[in-house]
Amino acid sequence: MVAVGDSPDGRAVGRIGVAGAGTMGAGIAQLACLGEFDTYLHDPDQDALAGGASQLRESLARGAERGRWTPAAAEAAAARLREARELEGLAGCDLVIEAAPEDLELKRSLFAGLAEACGPKTILATNTSSLSVTAIAAGLERPERTCGMHFFNPPPLMRLVEVVAGDQSSEETLAAATDVARAMGREPIRAADGIGFVANRVARPFMLEPLRLLGQRISSHGQIDRIVRIGGGFRMGPFELMDLVGVDVNFEVAKSFWEQSFHEPRWQPHPIQARMVAAGRLGRKTGRGYYDYDAGSHRPDDPSPSGGDRDAPVPSADPELIEEREFTACSLMRGGLARLDPGGTAVGYVALPNLAEARLVEIVRGRATTPEALAAAGRHFAAVGKHVEWVDGDVPGLVLGRILCQIVNEGHFAVQEGAAMAEDVDTAMRLGFNWPRGPFEWARAIGPGRVLGCLEALRAELGEERYRIASALRAEAGA
Ligand SMILES: NC(=O)c1ccc[n+]([C@@H]2O[C@H](COP(=O)([O-])OP(=O)(O)OC[C@H]3O[C@@H](n4cnc5c(N)ncnc54)[C@H](O)[C@@H]3O)[C@@H](O)[C@H]2O)c1
Repeated sequence: MVAVGDSPDGRAVGRIGVAGAGTMGAGIAQLACLGEFDTYLHDPDQDALAGGASQLRESLARGAERGRWTPAAAEAAAARLREARELEGLAGCDLVIEAAPEDLELKRSLFAGLAEACGPKTILATNTSSLSVTAIAAGLERPERTCGMHFFNPPPLMRLVEVVAGDQSSEETLAAATDVARAMGREPIRAADGIGFVANRVARPFMLEPLRLLGQRISSHGQIDRIVRIGGGFRMGPFELMDLVGVDVNFEVAKSFWEQSFHEPRWQPHPIQARMVAAGRLGRKTGRGYYDYDAGSHRPDDPSPSGGDRDAPVPSADPELIEEREFTACSLMRGGLARLDPGGTAVGYVALPNLAEARLVEIVRGRATTPEALAAAGRHFAAVGKHVEWVDGDVPGLVLGRILCQIVNEGHFAVQEGAAMAEDVDTAMRLGFNWPRGPFEWARAIGPGRVLGCLEALRAELGEERYRIASALRAEAGA
């Protein structure tokens, strides 16, 4: 039993209902059973209900086989599950989480039906990822008893839950949802009812900057993915991820952000997405997206970065300029090579979070850079144990710098607009998407001043409004 915060009537959440027994609903109900709540699963489609319940039981048994919990715990959890064929079967639940299809009218009428079936004291939570919690609760008599509980897919594996405050959600309601999420073994963060809440919003540049880099022919999709994996420590590159999620699904999400924000330049979808969808290249599910999936693995394994001479000297601070006998390399965190070394022979480089810690160095040549100087720079970085990527196009931050700086910028916009607290934003990105670091952790590792410098250079050189800088980031950089 979970105490409902400072609830005036001192009620407790002991019984949880889940409405919708699909991918998310079945997973959320499993967490409720494991959290020792009496759990009522409902779906108007009887086959979906039976399917969701059996998926849940199988998943409990599989978890016991894998040692995630004991067979006794799995059995006890399964015994807590009840199937509710009718919505009325959820009467008596203290909290109902709806995981029905993503359709505002459907969710509104489901909430109205639940309010009638369960009575005024039941808390109604929605697992929506893209609709407004306030809009779903509109028209209810007790909107203060509603909130968002946004789980990530698959719920039993992803530890994040965004507890979303609608305009009228009460503190008691939010505290109860937070406590329930914890009792389910999840890590709750508080989020405001804004577009994409926290994790999905801050992840926007992870997809959109790579599309712009590809569109401007700075780099190829395969190279961008490799740089993001090896250099950024992300498990998957953005193009692999879009192929996995579905290029069409991802495009719909992009359009939804763009439309809901009345055309925020940072969230503008890319024509490449429309072209891919029109061509039917939807990703893994169609055998082809950015990669080809018909012929076995879509990419070679990443090279191990341990090839270099690790005893070779690594510069302690990050130099703006590395001057060696055979070449000069110029850091591109303050501008593109053509601007920093106009007409010169230097090589451009980016290594993040800094040269000492970086696993990977991106290098680019300027118009007058000789192939010999470029090769010498490559040998130099390889000799100190770095994986080297030769990037085609000259732009501030090159690939990883441009993506990470815009992620940091988005995180700061999210905080300054009240979407969440900085610490919660970092937690959201680590637990919701398995990122190695959240935006504020990246900012500290790279240095807020360098992030600011890179974004200022992007804005100056590309002349695009989407690189305008969050005032919270300027403040952090002391600028
Ligand atoms: N799939 C994801 O990755 C993911 C992640 C986070 C949040 N969400 C959100 O979770 C919700 C459910 O997504 P899903 O992927 O589980 O969808 P799904 O299609 O797998 O399942 C939806 C279920 O809802 C049932 N349903 C239809 N009408 C209903 C009603 N009136 N009342 C109750 N149930 C009804 C359907 O029969 C179906 O079984 C959506 O709001 C979605 O945006 C999805």
